Amino acid sequence: MAPAGRAVLITGASSGLGEACALHLSRVGFHTLAGVRRPEDGERLRTAAAGRLTPVLLDVTDEKSVRAAADGVTGLTGGAGLWGLVNNAGIAVTAPLECVPPELMRRQLDINVLGQLHMVQGFLPLLRAGAGRIVNVSSGLGNVALPYLGPYAASQFAKEALSDALRRELAPQRIPVTVIQPGAVLTPLWSKMSEVGNRALESAPQPVQELYRGPFLGFMQANEASARASRTTPGDVARVVFRALVAERPRTRYTVGRDAAGSRVLARLLPDRALDRIFGGSPAWTRLRD
Ligand SMILES: NC(=O)c1ccc[n+]([C@@H]2O[C@H](COP(=O)([O-])OP(=O)(O)OC[C@H]3O[C@@H](n4cnc5c(N)ncnc54)[C@H](OP(=O)(O)O)[C@@H]3O)[C@@H](O)[C@H]2O)c1
Repeated sequence: MAPAGRAVLITGASSGLGEACALHLSRVGFHTLAGVRRPEDGERLRTAAAGRLTPVLLDVTDEKSVRAAADGVTGLTGGAGLWGLVNNAGIAVTAPLECVPPELMRRQLDINVLGQLHMVQGFLPLLRAGAGRIVNVSSGLGNVALPYLGPYAASQFAKEALSDALRRELAPQRIPVTVIQPGAVLTPLWSKMSEVGNRALESAPQPVQELYRGPFLGFMQANEASARASRTTPGDVARVVFRALVAERPRTRYTVGRDAAGSRVLARLLPDRALDRIFGGSPAWTRLRD
C-alpha cells in the first residue's frame, strides 16, 4: 500500500523516535501531521521536512487540546480522514517504587496511558473515515518489568493491554491495531529519565534514600551505558512504523532491537523465578542489548 499523500498523525514528534518517524514518513510520501506541544518545534520540523509536513499542536493529556487537534485534522484532510494514528508521545519515570512521589506516578500514567486513550477516542471517527489504522509505540519493557523502572513498565504493560483489547474491539470495523516495541534507543528520553529518577530518590526520607542509593544509581548507570551502546537507532524504529503503516495485513506486534525481541521471547518462555534471576537487581540483563 503506497503512502500516496495519505494522512498520518504522530504524537510526540518534537524529539527522539517521534521526530525520526515524522521526518521519515514525510520523506516517503505520507501527508505527515506532526503532533507537538510547542509551535517552535513544529516550525523546526516543517523546515527539516522541506515543507512536506504539517505541525499539529497537541497535548495528549488535555482532552480540549485533543478535540481541537481532531477538528484541525478534519479541516486539513478535507473529509478523507486519517490513514494512520501513531501514538508515540511518552515519558519514562524511573525510581524505586518506595520513593516514587504519587504525583509523578500519576503523570506517568496520565501521559503514557490516558493520553493514548484520549487520542484513540478523539481520532477514531477520522480513522473510520479514512479506513485507517492505529500504531501504538510501547516498549520492550511492556514484556518484562525491570526493577527501578516500575512506573514506566506499569504504563507499558497498560498500553499493551489497551492495544490488545482495542485490536479485538476494532477488528469488526477493520481498523488494525499494531504495537511497536522498541528496545533501548539513545534519545533525549534517557537524560530526562535520569533527572526525574534522581529527584524522586532525593524526595524520599534519608534512611530510605540510603537503602536504595547504591543499587539504584548502579542500575541507572548500567541502563544508560546499555542505551549508549545500543545499535538500534531512531531510524530503525521509523522504518518499522512505516512497515506497520503500509503492510496489507500488519502484524499485531513488531519488536525493534535484539533486547526487545529477547525480552519478549524470555517473558513468554521462562517462569517468574528464572526471569527474576535474569532481570533482577544485577545489570546482567543489559547483555541482551545489541
Ligand atoms: N528511547 C527509547 O529507548 C525507547 C524505548 C522503548 C520505547 N520508547 C517509547 O518511545 C516513545 C518516544 O520516546 P523517545 O525516546 O523518543 O523520547 P523523547 O525524545 O523524550 O520524546 C518524547 C516525546 O513525547 C512528547 N510528550 C511528552 N509529554 C507529552 C504530552 N503530554 N503531550 C504530547 N506529547 C508529549 C515529548 O514532547 P515535548 O518535547 O513537548 O516534551 C516528545 O516529543 C515513548 O512512548 C517511549 O516510551 C522509547
